[in-house]
Amino acid sequence: MEGSSGQNNTYAKGLEGVIAAETEIGFVDGQEGRLVYRGYDITTLCDNSNYEEVSYLLNYGKLPNRKEMNDYLEKMKANSEIPESTYEIIEKFGRKTHPMVTLRTVISNLASYDPQESDSSIENQRRIAISITAKMPAIVGAIHRTIQGKDIIKTKSELSYAGNFLYYALGRNPDSVETKIMDTALMLHADHGMNASTFSSLVTISTLADIYSATTSAISTLKGPLHGGANERALKMIMDIGSPDRAGPYLEAMVARKEKIMGFGHRVYKVYDPRAKILKKYAAYISEKSEKKNIFETANKVEEIMINKLGEKGIFPNVDFYSGMIYYSMGLSPEIFTPIFALGRISGWTARSLEYLQSNKLFRPKALYVGEKGPKSYISIQERQ
Ligand SMILES: CC(C)(COP(=O)(O)OP(=O)(O)OC[C@H]1O[C@@H](n2cnc3c(N)ncnc32)[C@H](O)[C@@H]1OP(=O)(O)O)[C@@H](O)C(=O)NCCC(=O)NCCS
Repeated sequence: MEGSSGQNNTYAKGLEGVIAAETEIGFVDGQEGRLVYRGYDITTLCDNSNYEEVSYLLNYGKLPNRKEMNDYLEKMKANSEIPESTYEIIEKFGRKTHPMVTLRTVISNLASYDPQESDSSIENQRRIAISITAKMPAIVGAIHRTIQGKDIIKTKSELSYAGNFLYYALGRNPDSVETKIMDTALMLHADHGMNASTFSSLVTISTLADIYSATTSAISTLKGPLHGGANERALKMIMDIGSPDRAGPYLEAMVARKEKIMGFGHRVYKVYDPRAKILKKYAAYISEKSEKKNIFETANKVEEIMINKLGEKGIFPNVDFYSGMIYYSMGLSPEIFTPIFALGRISGWTARSLEYLQSNKLFRPKALYVGEKGPKSYISIQERQ
């Protein structure tokens, strides 16, 4: 395609297939069904690690030794204080506001307490990254409490990242199994290639704005139903189906209407999403424990039918198919599912923004002008039809 400058320009709608940055942080192998963070397979990390370590790994490039881990945890603890105005916004926005709108507003508002937010040195921006990450469990937890019409829990909790979130969200100490399952879900959501929200955080940081702004952009982008939000819709569909014996006719009708089955298919994975594989076993466990076994059995039937029908086309369950029912079985409201995605993805957003900032180049793609080239003569407003 010939551009206005006379150069050859390739037009890729939605930047599909365009390589826009180099990264050492993570990659998605859609053919083999692998997700890798800095060389470690996600399955290895979920079996052996925890969210805090994974957050360090993504942001610093290696797994921490004991001292590095303790220092990182200390910094997180020192930054976990939530300004009172954050709670005021959450309470004021209440149930009438989309939780992602509340989340992006409070993250953006945190910048107003930081006199150094615009110092774009890596060191300072890394400080901001830790500060935001450390506050996320209490913030997302508080948003959940207001959605459920309950009081915000302000008493400090000193559990793990996942445990703290559950404590602030549910108003009780989670048991070790619930904590492990949430911890795993957060590790699985921590990074996933050059997805839309990660890309928008890079665009923002590339202007030498700050990590508050980059994270606010990322949260805004994640809000859209084509990105975050499919897990809520997958759960709704499974609950609508109601029982395994209704799955066949329900799916037949959806396929006949050419509707997409929520929680299936992926732009990159053409085999079973490795994240869904890990979550499925936890979904089986937690739904039985919480007496929501029927939801899992219905989902399992949906999976069986879908794989028989569309497996050949490379359509398999994705991460969203089982994550929603896990959160729901824990007593979390569906409206908080996308903020939970952000709670995990924050480490990927900050790691990739900081990586990009280290060899920064302002994002400035072009658009292909397909309008009239003129020059047209100007007609005054009095004479226009
Ligand atoms: C994620 C998604 C957007 C990826 O789409 P994509 O790579 O652009 O693939 P396409 O939409 O072009 O689909 C390719 C084919 O598979 C079919 N397909 C893809 N996902 C499907 C689904 N969930 N249900 C039924 N059919 C599906 C399409 O209808 C299309 O069929 P065709 O070739 O006969 O037209 C898509 O699979 C989808 O909308 N899934 C449901 C929403 C979801 O779970 N999103 C979360 C992703 S993590």
